[in-house]
Amino acid sequence: MMRRKLVAGNWKMNGLTASLPEIEAIAAAAAANPGVDAALCLPATLIAPAVTVAGALPIGGQDCHAKDSGAHTGNIAAPMLGEAGAKLVIVGHSERRADQGETDACVKAKAEAGHRHGLSVILCVGETLDQRDAGQAEEVVTAQIAGSLPDGADGAWLSIAYEPVWAIGTGRTPTEADVAARHGAVRAKLSELLGADAAARLRILYGGSVSGANAAALLACADGDGALVGGASLTADKFVPIIEAAA
Ligand code: G3P
Repeated sequence: MMRRKLVAGNWKMNGLTASLPEIEAIAAAAAANPGVDAALCLPATLIAPAVTVAGALPIGGQDCHAKDSGAHTGNIAAPMLGEAGAKLVIVGHSERRADQGETDACVKAKAEAGHRHGLSVILCVGETLDQRDAGQAEEVVTAQIAGSLPDGADGAWLSIAYEPVWAIGTGRTPTEADVAARHGAVRAKLSELLGADAAARLRILYGGSVSGANAAALLACADGDGALVGGASLTADKFVPIIEAAA
């Protein structure tokens, strides 16, 4: 099964309208590499302005509430993202699982809300350093998949991002063999839950300290279909080489 590579940037809590020229430059580079799918997940306030300069580059959010509206101060709902022009949303990022106490059940409901409102969804999973050191990485990641996989999961709109927590923003990355092993475990769990054909349609992304220097090797890991990039997605000079490495 041929899966197109996806390279998505996650700007986290970074970016003001002064960054619009960077977004425009990234969009131009993405357009010049039509063999790879690229996307940028931005702070909610930047989505609408970014859409005006991003051309065909899909712009996304970094979270959505499970409900469509209501008394949930400070949250953002999937229809709001859609109205702002978002085409995708990240759910279950480890920073939200840790900072906001998001459970697998909560992440599942968020993924379903995103899909209900026409957004593609990137669902994040990954083990902490303690869990890795205890030899529990595979067990943790597959349990997260089992608990947070949305109903109706389908590769047409859902990707899984494997992001070892200890690799995020640290400059450390797993060995290529470890990335391939985790990807394989994710694919096997998806196959158990969805059947082999459906599992083969989902993209599995790697995230955690991806850079222009290591992108080619990380993108080549078995069962990998792209990358979710944090720090190195903030500027065109760092992000474009990663898109090019996937092309
Ligand atoms: O979601 C992407 C992210 O968590 C990885 O961040 O800065 O290590 O590329 P970074």
